[in-house]
Amino acid sequence: MTVLVTGGAGYIGGHMVLALVDAGEKVVVIDNLSTGYAWAVPEGVELIVGDFGDADLVGQTLATHGVDAIAHFAAKIVVPESLADPLGYYLNNTSNARTLIECAVKAKVKHFIFSSTAAVYGETGSQPVTETTPLNPISPYGRSKLMTEWMLEDAARAYDFRYVALRYFNVAGADPQGRLGQTSKLATHLIKIGAQTALGRRPSMSIYGQDYPTRDGTCERDYIQVTDLAEAHLDALRYLRNGGASTVCNCGYGHGATVKEVIDVVKKVSGVDFEVEIAPRRPGDPAVIVARAERAREVLGWTPKRDNLEEIVAQALDWERRLHNKGL
Ligand code: UFG
Repeated sequence: MTVLVTGGAGYIGGHMVLALVDAGEKVVVIDNLSTGYAWAVPEGVELIVGDFGDADLVGQTLATHGVDAIAHFAAKIVVPESLADPLGYYLNNTSNARTLIECAVKAKVKHFIFSSTAAVYGETGSQPVTETTPLNPISPYGRSKLMTEWMLEDAARAYDFRYVALRYFNVAGADPQGRLGQTSKLATHLIKIGAQTALGRRPSMSIYGQDYPTRDGTCERDYIQVTDLAEAHLDALRYLRNGGASTVCNCGYGHGATVKEVIDVVKKVSGVDFEVEIAPRRPGDPAVIVARAERAREVLGWTPKRDNLEEIVAQALDWERRLHNKGL
């Protein structure tokens, strides 16, 4: 039995590959290296450079590797970019995902784990969000992912096929063993930018808005450590192989930190009191996004072990130093 990981040369998919290999699973990766890196795929794991929407390539891979489960991470993930290029997002995140699901059904691959996102909730008006909170995505990114959730739901009804869609909240940190972390050059993520600023790669950083209705006026998010998230996928894989019914689960810790609180932790852990400017609000930022994530614990048996912002920040700092040594 082999697991096909699409996007396995990227940030979250790469951590999933490590978790699978650590668990003794056989893995094959399809990644077009548009944002991922071949060196992120560990030795002994076959990397096929290509598109997950290429039906011939996927069909051949499923047939020749004895694949019993697909973990689908490959996607475009930048919200502002999705507003400028909605059709590109629908092509990649929705249309190509349809092709991938069809390949799975044709090849009788019965288990599918999908990287969904808290962006499917959009402006909900109530926090924390549960899996039954009404969905109102406000970006093409969130909509493109939600449409794939719907295709999976319909496919699972029609065919011998089951899935788990995991809705990620704010993924952060790096492999505790230092093998991998967030590498994207264009990352806009708060903790990565904080780490880069603490290490002097940026002269200063900005807080986008301090007039939100939160405890200190800055936005609140539920930051989840990336290895904990990868382990939720391992639990989903076990659940599906044991015959579990298709489901959707939030992946977060159920509590949030504000932008100011995160920056204070970065300063404390790095020991650097870097410059922070107050800037206007960033368009599209909701004040608070926090998960209720009991379902992943109850249904999948997920037990997160790394709910510690100081450790998450320390991992991010460590990874930024390693990237610098790699010349990235
Ligand atoms: N922020 C700053 N300064 C920065 C960077 C970010 O103040 O330099 C703020 C943002 O305005 C936001 C918070 O920090 O309030 C978190 O921002 P991130 O960019 O780290 O994360 P987002 O919550 O915007 O995005 C996350 C995921 C996306 C996902 C989105 C929607 O990273 O992939 O949630 O759920 F699409």
